[in-house]
Amino acid sequence: MYRTNTCGELRLLHAGNEVTLSGWIQRSRDLGGMTFIDLRDRYGITQLAFNMDQEPALCEQARKLGREFVLQVKGIVKERENKNLQLPTGEIEIEVKELKVLNASATPPFTIEENTDGGDELRMKYRYLDLRRASVRANLQLRHQVAKQTRNYLDGQDFIEVETPVLIKSTPEGARDFVVPSRMNPGQFYALPQSPQTFKQLLMVGGFDKYYQLVKCFRDEDLRADRQPEFTQIDCEMSFVEQEDVLHMFEGLVRHLFETVKGIQLASVPRMTYADAMKFYGSDKPDTRFEMRFVELNHLVKDKGFKVFDDAELVVGICAKNAAHYTRKQLDELTEFVKRPQVGASGLVYARVNEDGSIKSSVDKFYDEAALKTWAEAMQAEAGDLLLVLAGEQHKTRKALNELRLEMGTQLGLRDKNTFSCLWVMDFPLLEYLEEEGRFFAMHHPFTSPKPNDLAQIDEMLALQAAGKLSAAYESPRANAYDMVINGVEVGGGSVRIFNKELQQKMFALLGFSPEEAQAQFGFLMNAFEYGAPPHAGIAFGFDRLCSLFGGADSIRDFIAFPKNNSGRDLMIDAPSEIAEKQLTELSIAVKK
Ligand code: AMO
Repeated sequence: MYRTNTCGELRLLHAGNEVTLSGWIQRSRDLGGMTFIDLRDRYGITQLAFNMDQEPALCEQARKLGREFVLQVKGIVKERENKNLQLPTGEIEIEVKELKVLNASATPPFTIEENTDGGDELRMKYRYLDLRRASVRANLQLRHQVAKQTRNYLDGQDFIEVETPVLIKSTPEGARDFVVPSRMNPGQFYALPQSPQTFKQLLMVGGFDKYYQLVKCFRDEDLRADRQPEFTQIDCEMSFVEQEDVLHMFEGLVRHLFETVKGIQLASVPRMTYADAMKFYGSDKPDTRFEMRFVELNHLVKDKGFKVFDDAELVVGICAKNAAHYTRKQLDELTEFVKRPQVGASGLVYARVNEDGSIKSSVDKFYDEAALKTWAEAMQAEAGDLLLVLAGEQHKTRKALNELRLEMGTQLGLRDKNTFSCLWVMDFPLLEYLEEEGRFFAMHHPFTSPKPNDLAQIDEMLALQAAGKLSAAYESPRANAYDMVINGVEVGGGSVRIFNKELQQKMFALLGFSPEEAQAQFGFLMNAFEYGAPPHAGIAFGFDRLCSLFGGADSIRDFIAFPKNNSGRDLMIDAPSEIAEKQLTELSIAVKK
C-alpha cells in the first residue's frame, strides 16, 4: 500500500498514529541536527521530520534528496514544537521511520510554488509541472465543480446530454474552420465543429426536446485572453419554447452555478436591448458593475467655435465620480490612452467640477462656465467629478469611449473581481454589413430567426437585393437573439431558431448564397425542416469563460489543463508540426516547399 493517508489529511487528533504517506518533495531544510521535508500531494503538504540523533542513516539519506523527488515514508504522527497555523496540517509532523525513494527528479526548470519564478512560456512547456502548483490545480478543481453543477442543474430539468460528431462539414459562415483531410476521400476535407449548432437543431427535429452537451468547439481565429482555438461550450437547445422560456431556464442555470460554486445569491438578471447597450455603453457587452453611462452632448456643444466638436458627428461624454482630483499628468496619460491606435480617438476633452462648484475645462477658450454647467447638468455631475468627452464619427467614438470608460472603471477601483453583475443583452440586429466583403452577414448565425415584427423587412431586403439596391445603410431587422454578459464578458449567446424551410432559404439568399450553394451547404438542415421541425431555441455558454470569471482571472488559459499560447501553439507537445511526406502523400496533399 503506497499510503494510508494523504498529505492534506492529518491533524493533532492523529498524533501517535503510524501512517504511510506518498508525495513529492516541495522543499527541504537541513538544520544539522534535524532535517525537514515538506511532502506534497494533491491534497496538501505535510512536514516530515528526520532526527540525526535517533535515525542518523535516514537523516543522511533525506539530506541528499532534491526537489520533486517522489517519496514514500512510514512514520509516527507527532505534535509539532513550532506550529504553522497557516497550514491545515501545520500542528503535526511525521517522525519518519522508513523512507523509500519511489522516483528521482531532475531539478525542475522553475519553482513549484505560488510565486513561481517561471515565465509563461516555460510553464507552458512544462505544463505537467505547472499543474503541480496549488493555484493551477485549484482552478481546474473549480472547473470540475462548474461542470458538475451544470450537469446537476440540466439533468434536474430533464435535459439529455448527447454527443455530436467532431468530424463534420466545412461551412463558409462564421470563423475559419480547422480542417482535417480525408485519406479515404482524396482531395476532400472534414471540418472540426465551430459549435454543434446544426446538430442540436437536428436533435430537436429528432424529438429530443431538451439537449445539452459540454462540448469542445474549434475556431481558427485570432487569439486573445478570452479566446482559445479549442474551447468548451455548455451547448443547449430546447423545443416548443419561446425566447422567454429560454431566458428563464438559463438564468436558472447561472443562478444555480453562482449559488453552488460561489455561494452567491443572484438577483434576477436585468435586460438591456442591444440598441441601449450601444447607446449608453458603446459596447454590446457592457460591464455593468459600475454606471458611468454615456451622455450625448451634441445639442449643447455645437456652434461655439470649437471646430473639433462642430465637425463631429457625435460628441459624447462620461462622468467619472470623485475623479476631479486627477492631476494634469494623469489627464495627459488618459489623453495618450485614447489616442492609442487600439482605442482610436483623436483627443480628449475634460472638465473638472471643483468642490466650490466652479468648472475648469481643457476647452475654456470656447466654453464659458455657464456653458460647462449645462454639460455638468446633462451628465448629472456633482462637485468633485471629472467629465471626459470624446468627439468624432459615431461608431468609432462610441467604441473609444467604451475603452475609456473601462479604463476609468479600472483606475477608480470599480471593477472588483468579487462583484458580479449579470445582464441579458437582447434584440441584436439580425444582420451586419461587412465593408471588406461588401455584403451582409448573420450577426449571430444564419439559423437565427428575425423578430416577428421585423419579418416583413426580410422580403423588403430581398427585393432591394434583386434590384441591386441593397446597401450598407439598410438598417437590419432585429433578431430573436440574446447574450448573457457578466462583468463585461460575453459568457453566452443564443437565439430562437428559424424552423421553416422557406424562411431559412430566404436567409441564405440574403447572405448571398445561390439556391444551389445553400442546398449544397445546408441542404441536410433544410430537408429536415420538411419533416415536421418543432419550434426551437437555445443558447451556448463559453464554459472556459464562465470558469475564469468564477475564478477571478482574466485569462481562460488558467482554467484549461493544456492550453495553447497566443499563436495557437501547444508548447509542450510542440504542435502544430510538420508531418511526414508519406502521410502527406496518403492524404493526397501536395505541399509547396
Ligand atoms: P457563439 O459563437 O456566441 O454561439 O459562442 C457561444 C459562447 O462561446 C464562447 N466562445 C469562446 N470561448 C473561448 N474561446 C473562443 N474562441 C470562443 N468563441 C466563443 C463565448 C460565446 O458566448 N451555436 C451558437 C450558440 C447558439 O446559438 O445556441 C454559438 O456557438 O462565451
